[in-house]
Amino acid sequence: MKIDFNIAPDRRGSGSMKWDKKPGALPLWVADMDFKTAPCIIDALRRRVDHGVFGYTYVRPAYYEALQWWFATYHGLTIDRESVIYIPGVVPALSAIIKGLVKPGDGVIIQPPVYNCFFSSIRNNGCKIVENPLRRVELSNTEFTYEMDFEQLEALAADPCNTLMLLCNPHNPAGRAWNAEELRRVSDICRRNGVMVVSDEIHCDLTMPGYEYVPFGTIDPKAISCVSPSKAFNIAGLQIANIICPDEEMRAKVDRAININEVCDVNPLGVEALIAAFSSDGHDWLEQLRAYLYDNYRFMREYIAANLPGVPMTKLEATYLPWLDISRYNIPSEELEEKILEHTGVWVNCGTMYGREGFIRINIACPRATLQEGLQRICEYLKCLG
Ligand SMILES: Cc1ncc(COP(=O)(O)O)c(C=O)c1O
Repeated sequence: MKIDFNIAPDRRGSGSMKWDKKPGALPLWVADMDFKTAPCIIDALRRRVDHGVFGYTYVRPAYYEALQWWFATYHGLTIDRESVIYIPGVVPALSAIIKGLVKPGDGVIIQPPVYNCFFSSIRNNGCKIVENPLRRVELSNTEFTYEMDFEQLEALAADPCNTLMLLCNPHNPAGRAWNAEELRRVSDICRRNGVMVVSDEIHCDLTMPGYEYVPFGTIDPKAISCVSPSKAFNIAGLQIANIICPDEEMRAKVDRAININEVCDVNPLGVEALIAAFSSDGHDWLEQLRAYLYDNYRFMREYIAANLPGVPMTKLEATYLPWLDISRYNIPSEELEEKILEHTGVWVNCGTMYGREGFIRINIACPRATLQEGLQRICEYLKCLG
């Protein structure tokens, strides 16, 4: 079925965090999309809703089969049924993993700028944030990317107090889809130094043309991965995610932490949505979505290069979240976020949320007309700042 992503429902008044938290704003902030999810998911949910009974959920074999089929078919990752723990979200997963596997006071290595909840999950579990910052690489006057600092990672991993690394693969907000060589180096360094790796792979199905997602589990079969259809299929509100933890001993500890945190149950709609998403119909829809997101990304790249040449932007290999360098304005990014909202009505995310000053993050997962409107307003305002 051909999908027209130029058309999206009006989300105002639908209880949408993105649209209803600041009524009247044009929201290009939080990472959810304005598109309807795949028709196969809506059909599956409709059937489940028509059943009319919503008691406690038993996660049936079809769920595991869909997950295994998707990752084997599209990503070359074999998932053992026993290694899967379902959970309502990747953030509860990260929190439980840290609680189960890291002693309070020990260090967890992260690579900022990185997803804000990495910081809070570590902090909330009484552990220490250990930064292995990504290194910026200039590609042109208008474009940059990031690479890992392996030398520093080696030094941090050698400290026996640092026992776990949270990897973001693909990386939000750096936009990188880490390649096999980079992941092999992470794995080698961590294995040699006894550091456990937990890979957050929530953005795995959102790669751009020419880039491939390499599951960390294909590099290091003992590593823990967190996956969910929530970002790619726009079903974050249905709260369904998975921890893939092949090691039995570690799995028991993580399972215990999930129970202590009381996040062990999922809802019946999330289960049905995952089964429908991870299907060939789901894949057909996803291919169309990715093509649309790529066109949005190209549109934005050209628009920013033409209108704000002094604001370089990341090369996007994955995700729908470009990251813009606004350091030339010499305004703290939190303040700039507020000013942009006040003067243009557009809501973006400030860089400090992700641990770095001098950047903003923009969500391009919306109809092109909405993106164009948002960019136009932001550019007009930033031009006035000089
Ligand atoms: C890297 C990363 N992990 C996790 C999440 C959120 O996960 P969940 O909604 O499943 O808790 C996000 C949301 O943007 C994200 O970017």
